[in-house]
Amino acid sequence: MSSSTSPHGADQRRGPLRPGERVQLTDEKGRMNTITLTPGGAFHTHKGFLPHDEVIGREEGTVVANTVGHRYQALRPLLSDFVLSMPRGAAVVYPKDAAQIVTMADIFPGARVVEAGVGSGALSISLLRAVGDGGRLHSFERREEFADVARGNVETFFGGPHPAWQVSLGDFQDEVVKAEEPGSVDRVVLDMLAPWECLDAVATVLAPGGVWINYVATVTQLSRTAEAIRQDGRFTEPEGWESMVRGWHLEGLAVRPDHRMVAHTGFLLTARRLAGGVTGLTPKRRPSKTEFAAEDVQVWAGNEEDWNAEGLGERTVSDKRLRRVAKDAASTVQRGAFKDVNPETD
Ligand SMILES: C[S@@+](CC[C@H](N)C(=O)[O-])C[C@H]1O[C@@H](n2cnc3c(N)ncnc32)[C@H](O)[C@@H]1O
Repeated sequence: MSSSTSPHGADQRRGPLRPGERVQLTDEKGRMNTITLTPGGAFHTHKGFLPHDEVIGREEGTVVANTVGHRYQALRPLLSDFVLSMPRGAAVVYPKDAAQIVTMADIFPGARVVEAGVGSGALSISLLRAVGDGGRLHSFERREEFADVARGNVETFFGGPHPAWQVSLGDFQDEVVKAEEPGSVDRVVLDMLAPWECLDAVATVLAPGGVWINYVATVTQLSRTAEAIRQDGRFTEPEGWESMVRGWHLEGLAVRPDHRMVAHTGFLLTARRLAGGVTGLTPKRRPSKTEFAAEDVQVWAGNEEDWNAEGLGERTVSDKRLRRVAKDAASTVQRGAFKDVNPETD
């Protein structure tokens, strides 16, 4: 089915529903289940079952009835559905933030991008889509088990290894300078605990004008990274923001925001590499010395040993659990299946 002119993974996303594909079945109450189409297989519920053969060969968006007349709408999962339900070992970058990263960091087809850490590979999938087959994404991860989880998820999503992707183990700040020529990288994307530790490495590999984007979970990380970038002088003024997406209930005259929403995911912070030997422009208005003192910043910073996953409120995950998730992600590649999980409660 794949044609040599189609970008990697594109052919799998169109045409009639095929055996081995994942399909979302949504019932009349809006409940969703994800199944993997298997000839002769069946989707069982406490009220009847739906033979997979009723779905195989049909167009996406088809509506099929099970043995007792319950109707289901069948669609392929989108990227956003996939990342929220794939096996994961740590918090993933939510689709709304991945969208911001791709656009605000100006990730373009053909770009040479470096990324850390890989985690479960959610952001890697969006970055690979954005750079395309002709680009390059080099992802760095310090924990082998995470790299395994990410490989499983990326290969499931694209239906095999992606030609633009390379994963290296180790600390980004140590490895990227060995792997990439100085000034050769277009974009740097960091989702990790301590991006300020990567300042020198980023300044070395990033091309003049290149974009550095950071995704951090807490205000303290945001502030520390911003101040480190500002003090360094090799970058433009850092810019920080967050995005909130509020779904809407749309039913007749009852048109209003949803009662519940994901209120916080993370903050984004960008800066661009200045040309070599250039010192950044001083912003028109900087806080005067009387506005804050070193001790005020120290209140944020605390002691160096406090800057760990626990201190920053991150869920820690054992190697053993990660190995289990990696196994899950790897078997997902073979089966082409993934669990259906509620992103709001997971
Ligand atoms: C929150 S997870 C990344 C999630 C990922 N962006 C996703 O969307 O699935 C953070 C990852 O960064 C890794 N990490 C932290 N510091 C690192 C460093 N200096 N170099 C490489 N990896 C690092 C951790 O092991 C962890 O897997």
